[in-house]
Amino acid sequence: MKKPWSGRFKQSTDTLMEEFSASISFDQRLYAYDIAGSIAHCQMLAKCKIISQTDSKKIIGGLKRILKEFESGKFKCDDRLEDIHMNIECRLTKLVGSVGGKLHTARSRNDQVCLDIRLYLRNEGQEVVKLITALAKTLLEVASKHTDTIIPGFTHMQQAQPILLAHHLLAYIEMLVRDQERMQDTLKRINIMPLGSAALAGTGFPIDRKYVAKLLNFPKISHNSIDAVSDRDFSIEFCSTVAILMMHLSRFCEEIVLWSSSEFDWLELSDSYTTGSSIMPQKKNPDAAELIRGKSARTYGNLMSLLTLMKSLPLAYNKDLQEDKEPIFDTVDTAKISLLIFNRMIKSARFKKIPLHRVDISGFLTATDMADYLAEKGVPFRLAHEITGQTVAYCIKNKKNLENITFKELKNISSKFGKDIFEYITLFSSVQRKNVYGGTAKNQVEVQIARLKKKLNN
Ligand code: ARG
Repeated sequence: MKKPWSGRFKQSTDTLMEEFSASISFDQRLYAYDIAGSIAHCQMLAKCKIISQTDSKKIIGGLKRILKEFESGKFKCDDRLEDIHMNIECRLTKLVGSVGGKLHTARSRNDQVCLDIRLYLRNEGQEVVKLITALAKTLLEVASKHTDTIIPGFTHMQQAQPILLAHHLLAYIEMLVRDQERMQDTLKRINIMPLGSAALAGTGFPIDRKYVAKLLNFPKISHNSIDAVSDRDFSIEFCSTVAILMMHLSRFCEEIVLWSSSEFDWLELSDSYTTGSSIMPQKKNPDAAELIRGKSARTYGNLMSLLTLMKSLPLAYNKDLQEDKEPIFDTVDTAKISLLIFNRMIKSARFKKIPLHRVDISGFLTATDMADYLAEKGVPFRLAHEITGQTVAYCIKNKKNLENITFKELKNISSKFGKDIFEYITLFSSVQRKNVYGGTAKNQVEVQIARLKKKLNN
């Protein structure tokens, strides 16, 4: 098959080489962006009188037909035409005749492919932001129902201090809000129009770059043609933003796997987002959570692929850059499906009534409160910590805990204990006393719920 660039070639391309160098199998997903970019470019060429209005209309008519062919599944991609750009251009020439060849005036595939990816990531980035909002809203709803549910907070995976389940869930919403902000910031650098850079040097044609930017809704145009065709920072940023998001989801998934185990038994996942075992009839496995946790790995891999692809790459365009697409596409797909499934998994899950006696298995969850109590009575905190430590040791030795140790026993350890100590160290009063901005006290958690509700509904 004759290639659009075949002028200086005498021999045909090896078929294996054709297969090797083709990106059409994956970059065809850019078709709508490629066509939108071409229509804008063509409108600009006519406006600047580089091609005639008649030619421009013919070309745009052809491009719109090609779009329909893609949408109805009729477009036949050809490996021998390498990529989406040449497939569309060749089809255009078949449809409208040699005038189709005028479309590529003042343009190169090097700036064209950058435009396509920018348009694609701009759209997908906005989709990801919407999916994050939806998930954060679901979590906020669950959190609002659990402003009275006390759970142990952990450090080192050991029971540490009592906290509200709502507070724990809000921690994940904070992460998601940051992910959203990061994506919005990334979108600023995606949203730059590179066309007009041509192969690398710019173009001699009297084009109007700002007009193309306006047609395609770009607030900015690139400032350096060499940078514009070789820059993939925006894709790296996108993959990095998603990698961080997936890291957050993986942490949450880990907790969901734990919480739904019979050892914890805090959470019942719906049958729709779990699977059974082909050998052990009793099993209900938290596959959705496990898979999202697992899929975070490929998004790190994609980020690493892009960074490695770009490392030491000389200016300007190099064919290596064709390898950027699959990691980007995979990152987009993984982020979207993970956010969607995560949302459904949470929506359909049921938090169980967590009996308080199960919360405080060790009986020492409020040891820090005991130390605080002594400190409030004037004991220096370090000494208060020491006395409480001795109390815990005494309890362990005598098979007691901070709830059933007697006042007499406490007095023997320190004269500073008053009768009000028992009221002071209940789980509830421990939680309620963390009444600092950002703390776990119910009214503080309610302040955050209200703030997040407002933020997420904007
Ligand atoms: N398919 C190519 C890519 O994805 C498009 C740009 C090709 N440019 C070139 N000079 N061969 O990077």
